[in-house]
Amino acid sequence: MKQDLIVILDLGSTQNTVVARRIRDLGVYSEIHPHDITAEELEALGNVKGIVLNGGENRVVDGKEVEINPQLYGLGYPMISIDYPQSKTETQFSGVPEDGIWKEFIFEDCKAEANWNMANFIEDQVALIREQVGDRKVLLALSGGVDSSVVAAMLIKAIGSQLVCVHVNHGLMRKDESESVVKVFRDELHANLVYVDATERFLGKLEHVADPEQKRKIIGSEFIRVFEEEARKLEGIDFLGQGTIYPDIIESGTKTAKMVKSHHNVGGLPEDLEFELVEPLKQLFKDEVRACGIELGLPHDMVYRQPFPGPGLGVRCLGAITRERLEAVRESDAILREEFAKAGLDKKVWQYFTVVPDFKSVGMKHNARVFEYMVIIRAINTIDAMTASIEKIDWEVLEHVTNRILAEVEHVNRVCYDMSPKPPSTIEFE
Ligand code: XMP
Repeated sequence: MKQDLIVILDLGSTQNTVVARRIRDLGVYSEIHPHDITAEELEALGNVKGIVLNGGENRVVDGKEVEINPQLYGLGYPMISIDYPQSKTETQFSGVPEDGIWKEFIFEDCKAEANWNMANFIEDQVALIREQVGDRKVLLALSGGVDSSVVAAMLIKAIGSQLVCVHVNHGLMRKDESESVVKVFRDELHANLVYVDATERFLGKLEHVADPEQKRKIIGSEFIRVFEEEARKLEGIDFLGQGTIYPDIIESGTKTAKMVKSHHNVGGLPEDLEFELVEPLKQLFKDEVRACGIELGLPHDMVYRQPFPGPGLGVRCLGAITRERLEAVRESDAILREEFAKAGLDKKVWQYFTVVPDFKSVGMKHNARVFEYMVIIRAINTIDAMTASIEKIDWEVLEHVTNRILAEVEHVNRVCYDMSPKPPSTIEFE
């Protein structure tokens, strides 16, 4: 391993990510692991310099206080504990301590070096991928979003032609998006890319399904089935590469934190999954994924484009998906993106999209009463997608977008702007 590692054990803290970032901000890599990690698993992480026992309000699970594996105390690693009164460590804190304490712990007690940077992270991941994969093949779900693009670049660097990228057009992509994935990856980056148009299959499975979790699960498991079919055609594929990042893992529930919502690339995997996973970004926050992409040499536009959820427009066409409303989401989203780019907002706003609910409201068109759908515009800013604030968009831009949507998108007679931050709202509606 190129870089030193401080391990954070999650003993029910809601501050795991805060602690991880505090340590990384001091230039030392840190990872969050479950409280019941074994001594062997810990040692296998390589270059561990110290351990943070991070307790907190979720310390009690199913009526029992969570405990670390007692073997860990005997391994000789320097330890610090936060909000974990039963620990046997010398240094105990209530609440996340100040930087001075961290510096002393990390650099003096643990003797860690400040060697966390993207070049070292990539070098470590490339070595780990090669060790895991050997001379076998990896199949990657290449949606063209930031996460899967960065994973693709990482895997191309690690294993080159042992990577087969599959782009599944599930019919829930943004306007012209699949075409551009093929252009960039097949034509420009010369990736081994298979393009599958599965629109009818997905829309068929989703017909009349209104429950958000059910929709996500169907899209997620159908995705995996399509990959399995492709893998069988390709022969000899043992691994599935995935662009899972740290916020996906937390929100799908850890051993102490409850589930917020299942993300398609974590919660929706079917149990009969035949692949072993390769997830080189799973310890990174979103902003770190982008830095990793730049370090890997991906174009700026690709790395800084707004994220797009795995289930795509499926979670923005609320309730049971219909083709009519799906088209309304797709067309209004294209208009919003075009106008935001013209106004320079694409560089200022982290994520912006439209949503179409499954109810209608009364309106007037050509002097006649109409009963049609509405489009909701959402524009938010965030650092790591864990919390988000709404963006104050220039009134004239909003008015112009609204007028275009009302004039150009069929079956729509009303446009609204979502004012809600996260929390309590999530970024997506479903
Ligand atoms: P929420 O709605 O949970 O979204 O506040 C946080 C960020 O994650 C994106 N998102 C997803 N990404 N698979 C993904 O890869 C998913 O199932 C998924 N759901 C939401 C969302 O767009 C936002 O950027």
